Amino acid sequence: MKTASQLSKHTSSSPLAIIDQIVRDHNLDEGSAIVILQQIQAAFGYVGKPMLERVSQLTGIPASVLYSIVTFYTQFRLEPVGKNLIQVCHGTACHLAGAERISEVLQQETGVPEGKTSADGKFTVKKVACLGCCSLGPVVTVNEETFARVTPDKARQLIKEKRASCQCGHSNTEEVATID
Ligand code: FES
Repeated sequence: MKTASQLSKHTSSSPLAIIDQIVRDHNLDEGSAIVILQQIQAAFGYVGKPMLERVSQLTGIPASVLYSIVTFYTQFRLEPVGKNLIQVCHGTACHLAGAERISEVLQQETGVPEGKTSADGKFTVKKVACLGCCSLGPVVTVNEETFARVTPDKARQLIKEKRASCQCGHSNTEEVATID
């Protein structure tokens, strides 16, 4: 799944053409596998299995090797995520500080079960391991932003603000593209 904004650089291209161009930009170079995968994720928001197969065809790198890369590095996602990727730290310190309640509130406010994406493509809510700022728990990240000492009220407010600031212009449906 990708949003129009995520593909602003490539609006006139098909998904496969975008992948082909990214790979060609790196001269079909096997040594650029990680950079190629990063750029595909930047364009689409994730790196799905059909994308890995296409990169494999073009570069000669076995799809199994590409798959092992995207599953090893936590920066990669194999499935599409919403416009707002919300990650709730469930490391020990955040767990003790009330992360479970924060996850519950976020799931209630977005209507999205753990690890899933809302039908309108606006929210994905995920539990993650330690985010590295344990004294500030419960810690939540929304895309590149980090929120410390999140309370249930703060969590509700956060969703309200993100919903209000969404500029996509779609109320309940967002145009998405997939490569299946
Ligand atoms: S336990 Fe949450 S940031 Fe470390």
